[in-house]
Amino acid sequence: MTEEFLGFVHRFVPAQTSDAPTLLLLHGTGGDENDLLPVGRMLNERAALLSPRGKILEHGMPRFFRRLAEGVFDHEDLMDRTHELAGFVDRAVDEYDIDQRRLFAVGFSNGANVAASLLLTYPRLLVGAILLRAMVPFEPDKTPDLSRIPVYLAAGRSDQMVPPENTERLAQVLREAGADVTLDWQPGGHGIGPAEIQAARKWFADRIFG
Ligand code: MLT
Repeated sequence: MTEEFLGFVHRFVPAQTSDAPTLLLLHGTGGDENDLLPVGRMLNERAALLSPRGKILEHGMPRFFRRLAEGVFDHEDLMDRTHELAGFVDRAVDEYDIDQRRLFAVGFSNGANVAASLLLTYPRLLVGAILLRAMVPFEPDKTPDLSRIPVYLAAGRSDQMVPPENTERLAQVLREAGADVTLDWQPGGHGIGPAEIQAARKWFADRIFG
């Protein structure tokens, strides 16, 4: 659908079976609602896929919130956009009859950052997340309760965009909130490859069936 519906341009692909998870797919800068559909399918072949397009345009490239420079976020906009995205998820849950007890976020880069912001701001919205090349979206004033929420953080050892200490800090923030964090260091940079998706797939299968 190329028009806004429920507040965002998005794609929704129904689940193959009624007990399948739903993946909220959040693309990186310059991506759109179609980008992560194949990744979602690789992660789980039966899952429902809910994939919105970020509303901010940076030189024509969609994003989920404004930034002032690379890796420097506009925190006010990040908050506004996080609330807006959570509202979309709530409406989509009703519209598409999504079982929120099986709703996971999968984000890449800017999408992973907004997914981390959703986790920290709305700790009961999602039951887990796969964050590919995420950064600390903001330092929470109050520690949210993310107890038992599984989070897979896939980071690149030679990522030019995300310094390793930023990834470590994100893992620490999530762990302090009680999340069950798996930090997976990959040899590559900011891009992700099929081997990495396979590792995330295995982690995900262990979490939903294990
Ligand atoms: C961001 O702006 O969210 C990060 O710098 C990652 C990206 O380039 O999208």
